Amino acid sequence: MKRIVVFTGAGVSADSGISTFRDADGLWANYRIEDVCTPEALQRNRAQVIEFYNMRRRESLTKRPNAGHLAIAAMEEWADVQVITQNVDNLHEQAGSKRVLHLHGELMKLRSERNPDLIYDINDGWEQSLDAKAEDGSLLRPHIVFFGESVPMFEPACQIVAEADILIVVGTSLAVYPAASLVYYVRDRQVPIYLVDPGNPDTAMIRNPLTHIKERGAVGVPQLLEQLKNELTK
Ligand code: APR
Repeated sequence: MKRIVVFTGAGVSADSGISTFRDADGLWANYRIEDVCTPEALQRNRAQVIEFYNMRRRESLTKRPNAGHLAIAAMEEWADVQVITQNVDNLHEQAGSKRVLHLHGELMKLRSERNPDLIYDINDGWEQSLDAKAEDGSLLRPHIVFFGESVPMFEPACQIVAEADILIVVGTSLAVYPAASLVYYVRDRQVPIYLVDPGNPDTAMIRNPLTHIKERGAVGVPQLLEQLKNELTK
């Protein structure tokens, strides 16, 4: 079986009704990153940060996977698939993808402010109360990688990309590092890279054979995967 790595960003969930970050109507048009998505913001204005992620979580509970997520999950029938996502939603898991690495954390988890290994699932509802504590006595925070923080899952993600026979990139502006640099970690210059995105992600640094399918995810991903299935399983 071919090893196919799918690297996704906010665009893969756009067709499920979740806002992207940098499009005209994106989240960063309505919020300032330094108010809600930095460690300093959490110290300075804890209530606003917790509220921001409570709203994201509440919104995400009503969202369902779209045809793009479903096609990626269905690919496991004929390929060895690993998903690496920048998204904090769980729509890949809801669609049935079995191997999903979250580079930027997960909305449905909280962790101790002091011990990054003390991670808790939110099994019920959407609300993190301001004074909720971990068992080590410290306050809980969203299990999200804020701007300015290290990305602990980056190394494992690089290793996964290095083993890919094919890399598929879906719905990301490739503007945020180190995540965007994953496209450089393919094994050699022959590995084909497919990009499904209706916009113009920053592909300037990609040296591998690149096919840009300028479609939204729910349309372009099923089309691409059908084509690859025909090519690889005949
Ligand atoms: N289908 C596919 N792609 C889409 C769609 C759609 N329906 N609509 C928009 N897009 C594309 C845009 O063209 C853009 O290239 O999705 C991309 C979204 O880019 P960003 O908003 O920058 O999101 P992303 O690349 O995931 O951001 C990376 O930035 O703020 C941080 O931590 C956050 O993980 C996030 C990171």
